[in-house]
Amino acid sequence: MTDRDKKTPAPAAAGSDGSGSEPLLKVEGLVKHFPITKGVLKRKVGAVQAVDGLTFDVRPGETLGVVGESGCGKSTMGRLVTRLLEPTGGKVEFQGRDITHMSAGRLRPMRRDIQMIFQDPYGSLNPRHTVGGIVGTPFRLQGVKPEGGVKAEVQRLLELVGLNPEHYNRYPHEFSGGQRQRIGIARALALKPKLVVADEPVSALDVSIQAQVVNLLDDLQDELGLTYMIIAHDLSVIRHVSDRIAVMYLGKIVELADRNSLYEAPMHPYTTALMSAVPVPDPRRRGAKSERILLKGDVPSPISPPTGCRFHTRCWKATQVCKTTEPPLLQLKTGHQVACHHPENGEDQAPGDAPLVADVITVKSAGAAEPVAEPVAEPVAPVASDEPGGPDASPEAPGSVASEGPEKSAVPATDDEGDGSAAPSTGAEGKPKE
Ligand SMILES: Nc1ncnc2c1ncn2[C@@H]1O[C@H](COP(=O)(O)OP(=O)(O)OP(=O)(O)O)[C@@H](O)[C@H]1O
Ligand code: SF4
Ligand SMILES: [Mg+2]
Repeated sequence: MTDRDKKTPAPAAAGSDGSGSEPLLKVEGLVKHFPITKGVLKRKVGAVQAVDGLTFDVRPGETLGVVGESGCGKSTMGRLVTRLLEPTGGKVEFQGRDITHMSAGRLRPMRRDIQMIFQDPYGSLNPRHTVGGIVGTPFRLQGVKPEGGVKAEVQRLLELVGLNPEHYNRYPHEFSGGQRQRIGIARALALKPKLVVADEPVSALDVSIQAQVVNLLDDLQDELGLTYMIIAHDLSVIRHVSDRIAVMYLGKIVELADRNSLYEAPMHPYTTALMSAVPVPDPRRRGAKSERILLKGDVPSPISPPTGCRFHTRCWKATQVCKTTEPPLLQLKTGHQVACHHPENGEDQAPGDAPLVADVITVKSAGAAEPVAEPVAEPVAPVASDEPGGPDASPEAPGSVASEGPEKSAVPATDDEGDGSAAPSTGAEGKPKE
């Protein structure tokens, strides 16, 4: 059987890919469009297509990492699956129950099982409440009376996340950023949830504190059997914490694979570009030139995303079909789904198609002081789009997102093994998961 024969549509549920376990969370064709309105009558003149057709699942006990540039829809996805936002379309199932449009009243008991750690440890804690009040809120909202009382349980939780139980009566401003993030984690864990969605749990923290929080999440998962969806834009952190990883670009999942498969042989050109930005400080490779792919242009606006493959305006492999036909997310290797007509490390899905002509890429050696001015031909063809930057690429365009570029998405990683198995850039002492 050829690879093409094995190709199947992306499984909507675990189990369909041979994993055997029923998914805890199952998401199908999830869509969120934020309307853009104008005038006093609030006439709808467009929509920000923040999330546009996501299909994935999260299995019990695993950590699904979600990575992508700023503005690609990661937080929106997190808020949709925790039902803090109402989806525009698609379906969200938790433990086999459809929660897509469940009312607030019917959702309340489920909120115990699905919790979120927010991106901003400063903004997500009410400054007028004490730590005891904040961490104890879920008990009051859910009418849960823990054995020994709320105060004792809150103090136990504070201790669990490495805070002093005697800080029960302190206010958020009396804590450091890392400590506040721990308060957010304690609050999320209060009701012993099954699924925790952590939105950039460490990105607002000091590098040294990042390591502590990453290791804390790791330990709590082992101790409490938690299932995580961890959203981040730092590839080193994602590699450290994830079992599987979803790569997002402009509201879509472009690649979804096991961690090792993704880092060792990425298939989507966008993932390849992201990976190339993670330096591998291996003494054995000193002097060797590695290629770094610098994507040109901003991420196009999610208000009017490019036709066909949304990445075609920045992709050096783009051909005519990429501009006209959206590539479906397909399983091209076991446990490895990718949405691309011309994947790396895999069979070309549209061989012989005519390239688009433009210059969208430069490649520089990792050690070079300045980017190489002209495109480098090998191993990539110097081709691309005729509409660089996309239709609304200007940072000033309404709803447009700032492109941090792949080089900003990544930070130096350590890799003693020289096999790319980098520990987090955070300086985390913890071991990568096996
Ligand atoms: N409430 C909203 N109303 C309108 N547009 C929104 C809203 N929330 C998010 N967006 C838009 O949706 C897109 C995705 O936003 P989102 O916050 O999900 O991105 P992100 O991937 O989490 O980015 P970051 O890495 O910067 O946190 C952005 O273009 C953003 O401007
Ligand atoms: S080769 Fe085509 S389909 Fe694949 S990422 Fe590039 S533009 Fe998209
Ligand atoms: Mg976000």
